[in-house]
Amino acid sequence: MANGKLRAGVIGLGLGSNHAYAYNQSSQYDLVGVSEISSNVVDNFWDKAKISKGSVPVYDDYKEMIEKENLDVVSVTIPDHLHTAPVCDASNMGVKGIFCEKPLCINLEDADLIVETVEKNGTKMAVDHTRSFVPNYSMSRKSIRNGEIGGLTRIIAHMGGTRAMLFRNGTHIVDLINFFADADPVWVLAVHEQGFEDYGTEYKGEGGKDPALDPGSTLIIEYANGVRAILNSAKKTLALYEIDLIGPNGRIYCTDKSVTRWLTEKYEGTPILDESFTSPGYPEFFGDSLIPAVDELADVVLNDVETSSPVRRARHTLEIMLGALKSQDGGNVKVNLPLPR
Ligand SMILES: NC(=O)c1ccc[n+]([C@@H]2O[C@H](COP(=O)([O-])OP(=O)(O)OC[C@H]3O[C@@H](n4cnc5c(N)ncnc54)[C@H](O)[C@@H]3O)[C@@H](O)[C@H]2O)c1
Repeated sequence: MANGKLRAGVIGLGLGSNHAYAYNQSSQYDLVGVSEISSNVVDNFWDKAKISKGSVPVYDDYKEMIEKENLDVVSVTIPDHLHTAPVCDASNMGVKGIFCEKPLCINLEDADLIVETVEKNGTKMAVDHTRSFVPNYSMSRKSIRNGEIGGLTRIIAHMGGTRAMLFRNGTHIVDLINFFADADPVWVLAVHEQGFEDYGTEYKGEGGKDPALDPGSTLIIEYANGVRAILNSAKKTLALYEIDLIGPNGRIYCTDKSVTRWLTEKYEGTPILDESFTSPGYPEFFGDSLIPAVDELADVVLNDVETSSPVRRARHTLEIMLGALKSQDGGNVKVNLPLPR
């Protein structure tokens, strides 16, 4: 740390250009290094991150960057199946805060290694399930936690369009369901979309770019506090992304652009639109959605506050997605959670 600012670096400069942008915009950080193994990607990085060319040192070895730049915080923004080694290396090398892209990783062995490593080392970690940091979603969770809809009981979510992929994009909506359910998941039941009936019990979409390798699926998830969620996700539907949060005295409906709340005065009363309940959703430029996330991570590192997107919830998210694969494979049966380890 110098000048009261945390020293930040980024590993992987695809989506990572947005992380670099966010650190560069935040008053809490100095962006002191980036790491990338492909020179073509580096060429395109500067414009994408809105950073002057050559103003930050580029390393092809992330460990060298962590050591030479004495990083306080690092983003891990390489493909889904490769997160584990840099997260564990950064934690073991003494980095104080890690912001890891979603999904956490693609199997439970890796997830457990990550959780064990960061907890053993006392490393603060947040996972970029980005909606955790988007104002309309955080405001809705606050309302639910304050009891304003009389306690959450049911969640109905939709994810559609070609990106209706259970792991690559679905991790966001499964995690958002976890974000609102606020309890441990106890079982999941899944029915994959047509064409993926025999997908099997392991995620096959290494790198996560091909929708043909990642099923849409309809999930029912039950939580320890009695919340039950239904996720409908299929590629041959509209590109929907929405979540409906229902309790005995109200309902909150969120999309990425807006939020709407209805409240009743009493159980089974008439739902009345609450026009005062408004909030912006995602900003236009994706990098701007990460500024509150990295600002919060600074607070987590410096002041030991809770992150909005903890690693243990990201592990639950992965476990639900893997449980969904098991459910389909076993004939669409209920799969109890946690999965055996
Ligand atoms: N939060 C979101 O909404 C969102 C959106 C898109 C992608 N993502 C996630 O971001 C991550 C990256 O996705 P992407 O689309 O940018 O992938 P990508 O393949 O386009 O980019 C990843 C980059 O990492 C580099 N890389 C790989 N191994 C490296 C290493 N050891 N050291 C340094 N660089 C290395 C690659 O060369 C590549 O340029 C994935 O986990 C993905 O799921 C999140």
